[in-house]
Amino acid sequence: SKTARKDDSGVLQIGGIAIPDLVADVNTPAYVLDEEDFRSRARAFRDGFAGYDVYYAGKAFLSVAVAKWVAEEGLCLDVCSNGELSVALRAGVDPKRIGYHGNNKTPMELRRAVVAGVGRIIVDSYAEIERLAAIVAELGVVQGVMVRVTAGVEAHTHEFIATAHEDQKFGFSISSGDGFAAAQAVIEAPGLDLRGLHSHIGSQIFDTSGWEVAARRVLGLHAEIGRELGHVMPEMDLGGGFGIAYTTQDDPADPADLARQITDIVARECAALQFPVPHLSIEPGRAIVGSSMCTVYTVGTVKQVTLDGGATRTYVSVDGGMSDNIRPALYDADYSCTLVSRASSAEPTLARVVGKHCESGDIVVKHEFLPGDIAPGDLVAVPGTGAYGRSMASNYNHALRPPVVAVRDGEARVIVRRETEDDLLATDLG
Ligand code: LLP
Repeated sequence: SKTARKDDSGVLQIGGIAIPDLVADVNTPAYVLDEEDFRSRARAFRDGFAGYDVYYAGKAFLSVAVAKWVAEEGLCLDVCSNGELSVALRAGVDPKRIGYHGNNKTPMELRRAVVAGVGRIIVDSYAEIERLAAIVAELGVVQGVMVRVTAGVEAHTHEFIATAHEDQKFGFSISSGDGFAAAQAVIEAPGLDLRGLHSHIGSQIFDTSGWEVAARRVLGLHAEIGRELGHVMPEMDLGGGFGIAYTTQDDPADPADLARQITDIVARECAALQFPVPHLSIEPGRAIVGSSMCTVYTVGTVKQVTLDGGATRTYVSVDGGMSDNIRPALYDADYSCTLVSRASSAEPTLARVVGKHCESGDIVVKHEFLPGDIAPGDLVAVPGTGAYGRSMASNYNHALRPPVVAVRDGEARVIVRRETEDDLLATDLG
């Protein structure tokens, strides 16, 4: 993160806080969140995408403090469960600036979102449209709605597939005509105010060509609905998915640059369709919080393993693992790791950083060169764990989920405390 630097003694400082000092207070493993870094990335999206609404995707990481920062920096918030909604409401986020997602919201969840006054509910099935119509009729309110459509684009990192990916659970297919029919159903339901179409094409994307194809297809439907149903939707959402650098090879995109490209694409398409440009919104999660957080672990054991062919690998076990970051096990995701509690001039050795869980796939960092004298008691940090780290953390092996400590200007504040055994046992009724 932006305020992170190593001092002369090899000690990592973030937000003016020396990591070993922080660890002395909160122990490890711990997520350290650089507040200034988070806020500056939020502002970069807000300013880069000027004229858009930027919805921070809370699924990447959400807590009451973070929801407050999001609102303070002028962003809206995307939630996808009642749990995330309750965090947002406790933080005092204006419900009108909340978008509510999900492919299977229960009637109870829908009702709660409507009662809370959520600005937009993104509907994802015909059953949901019916349920929502019944709820608003009963409550006698008008609810802003967007229709989630599938543009037939699958984008991942540097590549996208433009014809595939109808075969998944989200959204109404544009090509099958379901997108049109769903919009019509919303328009015809009294109490549902169709604000626009919503498309999200994937995550950790670097190439804007995926958004280009999606925007073209979604705008085509947008104009068709306007012409054939006489309903010109005021808005359109192009989702999130902006990639970040996990390892040095990746090239993070500049939000202003992305904004220019996406704005051009939409302007060109609308001109071709002779249709007014809708008010646009996006939903970045990872690109705001991903690089703002790192995870700090204590090394517990160091083991040399001889590989086929005679080479050795150093296995460095730390006091967390797949329970605080499932992404290496789940997506084969790559991270890096660095010694943060001291300097070392020892020859680097090829290491694999592993967790303490009961399976061999419990890998924290697959390949990393660490100083050859790495030893129990050393602190190591894994950068870039802010997105889908804590938010996908589990209690596997009855692990206690680590705290999140926000650092800024020489001050550290625990914004999510470490779980306790009492927390775990509280749900176990014996
Ligand atoms: N909007 C919608 C409708 C989404 O489904 C998502 C992510 C986002 C926005 C935010 O996407 P982002 O900007 O963070 O890429 N657990 C996976 C990522 C799952 C993304 C799910 N949807 C991972 O750890 O890579």
